[in-house]
Amino acid sequence: MKKQIFKKISLMDLPGQYKEVEKEVLPVVKRVLKSGRYVMGPEVAEFEKNFAKFCHAKYCIGTSSGTESLLLTLMALNIGLGDEVITVPNTFTATAEVIVLVGATPVFCDIDPKTKNMDPKSLKTKITKRTKAVIPVHLHGNPVDLDGIYKLTKSKKIAVIEDAAQAHGARYKGKVIGSHSSEFVCFSFHPVKNLGAFGDAGAVVTKNPKLAEVVRKLSNHGREDHYFHSLVGTTGRLDAIQGAILDVKLKRLNKWIKAKSRWAGYYKKKLSGICRFIETTKSGESAHHVVAVLTSRRDELSVYLKSFGIETGVHYPTPLHIQPAYKFLGYKEGDFPIAEKYAKETLSLPLYAHMKQKDIDLIIEKIRDFYL
Ligand SMILES: Cc1ncc(COP(=O)(O)O)c(C=O)c1O
Repeated sequence: MKKQIFKKISLMDLPGQYKEVEKEVLPVVKRVLKSGRYVMGPEVAEFEKNFAKFCHAKYCIGTSSGTESLLLTLMALNIGLGDEVITVPNTFTATAEVIVLVGATPVFCDIDPKTKNMDPKSLKTKITKRTKAVIPVHLHGNPVDLDGIYKLTKSKKIAVIEDAAQAHGARYKGKVIGSHSSEFVCFSFHPVKNLGAFGDAGAVVTKNPKLAEVVRKLSNHGREDHYFHSLVGTTGRLDAIQGAILDVKLKRLNKWIKAKSRWAGYYKKKLSGICRFIETTKSGESAHHVVAVLTSRRDELSVYLKSFGIETGVHYPTPLHIQPAYKFLGYKEGDFPIAEKYAKETLSLPLYAHMKQKDIDLIIEKIRDFYL
């Protein structure tokens, strides 16, 4: 019998997204190239203004990446040697990496079994006199239980830095992420994110004018003037080309999130009773950066789908506390059972705004075939 050939269905479709914006993006790129002004400048200022508006935040500072955003906020809070910063193990390494880079100690806590986000009950057991900040992560765009976290941090003057790398446009208690009472909210515009640049980029938003000024200064070598430096900073600025591109894409962000949310809802409806999904946080609305099923047969399902050309992903396969890079912290397997189980069971499915009905139907059909 002739073998059936399946067209590849990727986890995401960046060329498809580019097609939609090409006509608008090319002239703005040309304008920046002709201007001779490639670092910061009017394009960046305009995007910062518009992104602050999108987040209902007072201040926005464009940065060179999501990692840099997190790093700059820790630097702005003067967090360093002897300080502890609490985060979760089921995140991208950048969240913990920056804590080590400023000389502080990452402390992990476990996640909620339903939402897979930071569990305030576990967080409570990890707070010490040395805790200076908490970095909760809105995993896959699903907002964390901010109230549960604020209840533990506000009276102790522990700063909250939201890792919103995956959560542009998500909502918690009806308010968009970026507009709650954390000290800082950090975004990534890595190309795969819901709002992605054509390279690395990020942003920090805050309501605090003093902190905003320090982050801005730190992102530009602690400059007061061209060659006068009041702080030790970094090259953490946003490029003009990326700022101009992001501004074009920002206009479509709500539409793209809506489309992704619709597809994510379709997966959940059609696979209900067959697959488990991560629960959305109470009073939360996910931005659906990623949609994942949870299954004890994760690797088997991934290989099965691949045989039909369907790409899947795992976000993330090895929790940070058992990664070689963090061995020096002394954690071991078994320390965070919920995060560890999650890492073994999670499988991200193709999800993008420009998905085709027949592709998602094929994915659903193959998952059903796998189980039934
Ligand atoms: C949860 C999380 N934190 C931080 C980052 C770092 O962002 P960037 O890749 O822009 O440095 C990412 C992006 O990959 C992320 O997903």
